[in-house]
Amino acid sequence: MSAENDQAGKMMGAETLFDAGPRRLLALVVSVLLISVTAQDAMAQKAERNGKEVVESLCVSCHASGARGAPKIGDKKAWAKLASRGLSGLSKSALTGIRDMPSHGGNLNLTDTEIERAITYMVNRSGGHWAEPVSRTTRATERTGEQIVSIRCSHCHQTGVNGAPKIGDKADWIPRLKPGIDVVVRSAINGHGGMPPRGGMADLSDSEIRNAIIFMFNGGTPLTKAP
Ligand code: HEC
Ligand code: HEC
Repeated sequence: MSAENDQAGKMMGAETLFDAGPRRLLALVVSVLLISVTAQDAMAQKAERNGKEVVESLCVSCHASGARGAPKIGDKKAWAKLASRGLSGLSKSALTGIRDMPSHGGNLNLTDTEIERAITYMVNRSGGHWAEPVSRTTRATERTGEQIVSIRCSHCHQTGVNGAPKIGDKADWIPRLKPGIDVVVRSAINGHGGMPPRGGMADLSDSEIRNAIIFMFNGGTPLTKAP
């Protein structure tokens, strides 16, 4: 990526861009697209580890022996009870930490997917049959904004169900994008009000959400073609 693109990156999030008329707005949209491409390239370089690798490198230090009351790997009874809460319930407490279980098992560099894979591995080593979650950050299975929006987001964002900002309606989107694209992406990941977390698609990667938001902001006109 060139120095010009870095420059575009530094301009992002500057509120004045939104107040400065359509030409600046177009510049913003272009820079958003450049940033999303750069971010994907950076992420694609860091491969996520599978559940076995994460567990053996970290989680075993407590979960092999049951130290401090950690549910022991292989304890079918304990894990069956935990597994009944589902992956999202368990990963929530593993991500934030619970009593003597440290947040992210003590390694904040682990991605959400790595934590979910590690939990799945421990569940399966203890009598469960869960499928290891797909990566949310690598590009292998990445879908375009257009695909994501037509599969899901359009159900509410086409007509504005429950006040959803409408596809292509700049007046709806500009105030929401003011805090910067990253804030809006995070908000769509977490969900709020009538907006379900990840738009209700559990397997949606962060960059797919970003693509979908940019696509909706642009009014459904793809500015770039997917590689
Ligand atoms: C420093 C020790 C320690 C490490 C390292 C650790 N855990 Fe734990 N874990 C615990 C303890 C203790 C509990 C029981 C917490 C409780 O319920 O009081 C626990 C509970 C859990 C639970 C159940 C949470 C719940 O909601 O009841 C999950 C899931 C879990 N750990 C996942 C992991 C994963 C994944 C890793 C590795 C990335 C990991 N743990 C690493 C100590 C640890
Ligand atoms: C079930 C209906 C529904 C679906 C499906 C849905 N949304 Fe939403 N979305 C909403 C509603 C309602 C709001 C307005 C929420 C509010 O501000 O209270 C919203 C708001 C948003 C916002 C603005 C968030 C903010 O902080 O202002 C974004 C971004 C967004 N949705 C993205 C998406 C994406 C991307 C998808 C598809 C993956 C999607 N939505 C699917 C209903 C939906």
